[in-house]
Amino acid sequence: MSKLWEGRFSKALDSHADDFNSSIRIDSRMYKQDITGSMAHAAMLAAQGIIAEQDADAIIAELDAILQDIESGSLPIDTAAEDIHMFVETELTKRIGDGGKKLHTARSRNDQVAVDIRMYLREQITEIQQKIKKLVSVLADLAQQNADAIMPGYTHLQRAQPILFSHHILAYAMMLTRDVGRLEDARIRMNRSPLGACALAGTTYPTDRHKTAKALDFDGICQNSIDAVSDRDFCVELISALSIVMMHLSRFSEELILWCSWEFQFIELDDSFTTGSSIMPQKKNADIAELVRGKTGRVYGDLMGTLTMLKGLPLAYNKDMQEDKESVFDAVDTVKMCLDVFTPMVQTVKVKKENMYRAAQKGFINATDLADYLTKKGVPFRTAYKISGQLVGWCIQNGTVLEELPLSYLQQQHPAFGEDVYNEISLETCVAKRISDGGTSPHSVAAQIQFLREWLEGSK
Ligand code: ARG
Repeated sequence: MSKLWEGRFSKALDSHADDFNSSIRIDSRMYKQDITGSMAHAAMLAAQGIIAEQDADAIIAELDAILQDIESGSLPIDTAAEDIHMFVETELTKRIGDGGKKLHTARSRNDQVAVDIRMYLREQITEIQQKIKKLVSVLADLAQQNADAIMPGYTHLQRAQPILFSHHILAYAMMLTRDVGRLEDARIRMNRSPLGACALAGTTYPTDRHKTAKALDFDGICQNSIDAVSDRDFCVELISALSIVMMHLSRFSEELILWCSWEFQFIELDDSFTTGSSIMPQKKNADIAELVRGKTGRVYGDLMGTLTMLKGLPLAYNKDMQEDKESVFDAVDTVKMCLDVFTPMVQTVKVKKENMYRAAQKGFINATDLADYLTKKGVPFRTAYKISGQLVGWCIQNGTVLEELPLSYLQQQHPAFGEDVYNEISLETCVAKRISDGGTSPHSVAAQIQFLREWLEGSK
């Protein structure tokens, strides 16, 4: 294919090199941003008297026609083109002749590509934020529907203290609210227009960069033309925020996988989000959750790839930077895909309250509460802690649990024990009494749900 830049060359590009150099398979998805950016550029050129009004009108009308044709499918994107910018400009010139050749005045593909990526990604950020908010709302519902389910809370994956299942689920919802905030922060820094920076040094034409920035909904312009075309920190920042989203989804997936194992049986995943085995008839595997966990690695890879691609580049533009899109688009696509399956999977989870409760009953999960009981009766905490530990040891040797020890035996260990101890160390009491803000008590959980509902309302 002939090149818009072919003037100084006496030979065509080697066909493998041409293919290698081409990015259209990756960047064609930015056709809309490329066209809208060009329209704003043409309008600015005319307003500044750099090109004639009629030329700008013809360019804008034809760019609009090209956009319609791409969207209707009547203009297939030619993968032999070098990139989407070349494709659109070539098509424009094919259609309107010399007028089209004026579009690239006071512009370079270097600022053009930078503007396209920013416009494309800021839209993607909004979409991803909406998907995360949907998940937060599903988690708030799940917590509300299972408000009274008690399960063991873990540290070191050892049973630690009883908690409400809803409390555990809401921990993830809180993490996700911060993910939405991180994406918002990334958008704010991304939303500056590089358009008009040209190749690297600005231009001799009397352009108005603020005009194009405003027309394209940017919050302002990049202040330094070299920075505008050189950095891809906004990609790094976005993939980094997306890596954190994936890290959260991955931990959650890990727990869902554990919880639906035969060993835990705390939940059952809906058949529509599990798969069978080709050989073992009894199997119901949590493939979807496993894949979300697995895909986390690829998003981290996108982050590492982009950071590494950038680390040695001298200013300003280098072709290495064409690689930015493959990574950042992969990260965006992966996160969207994961959220699209993760949310309905969580929404359809069956919670097996009895099994959770049974697991919480064993394992001396109320040993802290037994110590707290004595402390509140005036026994110093360290002494109470020791007595509670000794009682646990005795229970283990004798195959029993704290709540089944006879009062007479308890009183032999310390006279402060009374009949009320049994109520104090019941799982319900252990949970209900953790009334500190953000704790696992039903009151606190209700407050958390309320907070999330207001957050969802406020961030619409
Ligand atoms: N396809 C290129 C990219 O994505 C566009 C910019 C090309 N600029 C250049 N000076 N060759 O980076």
